[in-house]
Amino acid sequence: MIEEILPVDVMSAEAFGDDGDVHLFPEERAAIANAVPRRRREFSTVRQCARKALGELGIPPVPLLPGRQRAPQWPAGVVGSMTHCSGYRAAAVARASRLHSVGIDAEESVPLPEGLLDLVGLPAERDMVERLGAHDDAVPWDRLLFSCKEAVYKVWFPLTQRLLGFDGARIDIDSSGFFSARFLVPPPLAAGSPVPRLTGRWMHRDGLIVTAIALPCP
Ligand SMILES: CC(C)(COP(=O)(O)OP(=O)(O)OC[C@H]1O[C@@H](n2cnc3c(N)ncnc32)[C@H](O)[C@@H]1OP(=O)(O)O)[C@@H](O)C(=O)NCCC(=O)NCCS
Repeated sequence: MIEEILPVDVMSAEAFGDDGDVHLFPEERAAIANAVPRRRREFSTVRQCARKALGELGIPPVPLLPGRQRAPQWPAGVVGSMTHCSGYRAAAVARASRLHSVGIDAEESVPLPEGLLDLVGLPAERDMVERLGAHDDAVPWDRLLFSCKEAVYKVWFPLTQRLLGFDGARIDIDSSGFFSARFLVPPPLAAGSPVPRLTGRWMHRDGLIVTAIALPCP
């Protein structure tokens, strides 16, 4: 389903469960040696997805290790993003000659825990969530807002190597399946040019919320 909200030059793969018998490289196994079984399963399956998507770009299987601030280290010349939540894992990759960065996020379609919206949402975003909810209560708009922010962070981090607080970008959700993010901090640079705004797409289907942002090269 995630391919429906990604541009055609982004390769993606997804899984709705864990296969149990995923090949990991020794260095990947070492990276999760002390993790709980649930974490090992998501780590393994999403890497299987990533290697499948990389294969679509003609790139042979390589270890995909967590790097700085846990951001995945992609092969040279590739940008990518991974996400997992209960019942879903996905990876998206593209040639760095086509995209500066890509960010994907998936969430279970349930409202945020009590009080979390106040921590992650700007006042204007909280108003937006209320407005959207008054119009259509089938979508947990607070969870969607959260997912948009996670996707923004996954685009931001590879470009900046910096953390970004939840108040670092203002999200505007369009109920037709699009969203935008405007940075409220000095924006990231892509090939030397500032990127003050990102646009992305979202989908709500089968108990999942999925968001994706691709930042194309001009
Ligand atoms: C990193 C973060 C975005 C991950 O999101 P999540 O919903 O918890 O988890 P997801 O399953 O969707 O994504 C996890 C994957 O994100 C990727 N990831 C982790 N850190 C990353 C980073 N700094 N940059 C890019 N991708 C990152 C990894 O591939 C990870 O999977 P893996 O550990 O199996 O390799 C989140 O934990 C976080 O730190 N958020 C705070 C920052 C933020 O969102 N700011 C809002 C800005 S408006």
